Amino acid sequence: MAIKKPKTTSKKATPVKRAANKPKKLSGEVFYPSKQVIAEARLKDWDKLNRSAKKDFRAFWEAEAKELEWYGKWKKVLDDSKKPFFKWFTGAKVNIVHNCIDRHLKTYRKNKLALIWESEDGKEHRTYSYYAMNREVTRMANIIKAMGVKRGDLVTIYMGRVPEIVFAMLACAKIGAIHSVVFGGFSVDSLAGRIEDSQSKLVITCDGSFQNGKIVQLKQIVDDSLKRCPSVENVIVIKRVGNEINIETGRDHWYHELLEQPIAEGKCETEVMDAEDTLYILYTSGSTGKPKAIVHTHGGYMVGTYSTLKYVFDVRDDDRWWCTADPGWVTGHSYLVYGPMLNGATSFLFEGGPAYPEPNRWWQCIERYGITLFYTAPTAIRGLMRFGESWPDKHDLSSLRLLGTVGEPINPEAWKWYYRVIGKSKLPIIDTWWQTETGAFMITPTPVVPLKPGSGTRPFFGQEAEIVDEQGKPVADDTEGYLVLKNPWPAMLRTIYKDDERYVKQYWSKYPGKYTTGDSAKRDKDGYYWIIGRVDDVLKVSGHRLGTAEVESALVSHPAVAEAAAIGLPHDIKGQGIHTFVMLRAGKVASPEVAEELRQHVATHMGPIARPEEVKFVDKLPKTRSGKIMRRVLKARAQGLPEGDISTLEE
Ligand code: WTA
Repeated sequence: MAIKKPKTTSKKATPVKRAANKPKKLSGEVFYPSKQVIAEARLKDWDKLNRSAKKDFRAFWEAEAKELEWYGKWKKVLDDSKKPFFKWFTGAKVNIVHNCIDRHLKTYRKNKLALIWESEDGKEHRTYSYYAMNREVTRMANIIKAMGVKRGDLVTIYMGRVPEIVFAMLACAKIGAIHSVVFGGFSVDSLAGRIEDSQSKLVITCDGSFQNGKIVQLKQIVDDSLKRCPSVENVIVIKRVGNEINIETGRDHWYHELLEQPIAEGKCETEVMDAEDTLYILYTSGSTGKPKAIVHTHGGYMVGTYSTLKYVFDVRDDDRWWCTADPGWVTGHSYLVYGPMLNGATSFLFEGGPAYPEPNRWWQCIERYGITLFYTAPTAIRGLMRFGESWPDKHDLSSLRLLGTVGEPINPEAWKWYYRVIGKSKLPIIDTWWQTETGAFMITPTPVVPLKPGSGTRPFFGQEAEIVDEQGKPVADDTEGYLVLKNPWPAMLRTIYKDDERYVKQYWSKYPGKYTTGDSAKRDKDGYYWIIGRVDDVLKVSGHRLGTAEVESALVSHPAVAEAAAIGLPHDIKGQGIHTFVMLRAGKVASPEVAEELRQHVATHMGPIARPEEVKFVDKLPKTRSGKIMRRVLKARAQGLPEGDISTLEE
């Protein structure tokens, strides 16, 4: 399909908080889109598209799919004959990389910037056009192939925020290999567990990464992990920080040396994949046990991420998109790497964090690169709020036209600060609710939807949500219940890697025919959804998804610990902080030093993001008669709340 350069305007939105297009009167505090926002929006009539997508969600998704290029057409848009093992665009041939890169090379976008990168210290800048992106991805794909990686093989990627992480993901996809990215902030236990489960043959890493001016020894962590992971045959190491590292002959290879060899050169055809072939797996914390790998595909995931980003952030050709998430989480996968490139956008990737060396680092980047669309997490906003308005006020943020948020409920104070201080009371705040499992936005406004601070508004086109009680019956408006999704969607997870049974049990068993999200929520009488939080043992710490089970198993791996329980309690900046309860082994004595040692132990084994706020020593943990720790009771006690039903509590 030929791509036409869309018309764009550069006019800015004017103040809002009044109905511009006279939608029906909504209750509560409502921020209506300004005339300007509506005039500029690609999609003006949300209700119309919503109505037609509701009537026939297959037709909606089929039309979206037709905007992309396929090597061969589908026989069926949706095959639900073996639900909940849904299949999308069955029979179609495609490769997501064809649509992220190859297709743009045939248009004016060839010389458009795909990626802008800045180093943590701000001293290095790199830019890649789509043409350059193709060259880098091709070279990395050639190298990965030369390492013996074939279509369907697993590759683990464990890196910092450098352009090569994007190349690595796309290179795997290009040759039909499956990537498994592990967040660079995780440590040995988390990395080893994920490599072991996936049985990766190749690991792509960096010598180290920078974090707030310090070096994270990524390669050392890989070395320690590989002692437990015999499946790995090769390690490719990108030189980033220049620290001393161990290079094991035969196994470890410097990327810059491989690039000089003939194997890197030459064309690399983009592999023709089935729409349903796996694109990647991504480990995420579930309600129990070890993290599980969510499976996403080339075809459906491509259509979902493309379409959602197009409508929700209204991405245009002259935009500069910045999603601050790390590529190691699903937000980075869908909206830093795939979604923007599918839309032919220019993305910014920043190596550092928001407040190093000073709390204006992000605002400086917005000004420096003329960012127009900015997508971040509530925890970051709360963290930056703390430093005051003088930091953003130092910078010209007038390039911005839309703001976004994701990862946890945004509290109204943070919403309003973001709206007023960053958006100058003009820019819509796009609050997107979704999950690793959903692959793409599920409950979200588009720029023309009236907003209520703290609500992700309504489901995306083609989706219907419901709030139900324990038995699955829809609850009344404004009543808390379980959030479920009623329709299948293209970017949905296909299964849990190597565990179909757990997939069915976890997501489709509680309310047959409906997808269980694991979140509790309310719906108000305007049909707006308000997410309350997880109902299971998943924690959201600074927007990062962690499991209580992982923290507990890190604690019990310490020789002094007999048993441990972890819970999440409200935290002003992080959203949730990890609080732990530890029973020591006989003969071990509790002390502040031991508590500190245990906190450090978790940080070393799992990663600094999992460091508990607190370690409390206890003689006993509340358990059910069958021996399960009742975290709910611990949580209630810690907050001085009623303990609820404790009839199953053991004596
Ligand atoms: C929470 C992140 C409220 C929710 C994309 C969900 C949110 C979990 C929002 C998934 C939001 C995500 N408002 N809560 N806008 N976005 N969540 O897999 O509890 O890391 O179930 O995916 O984050 O986390 P995950």
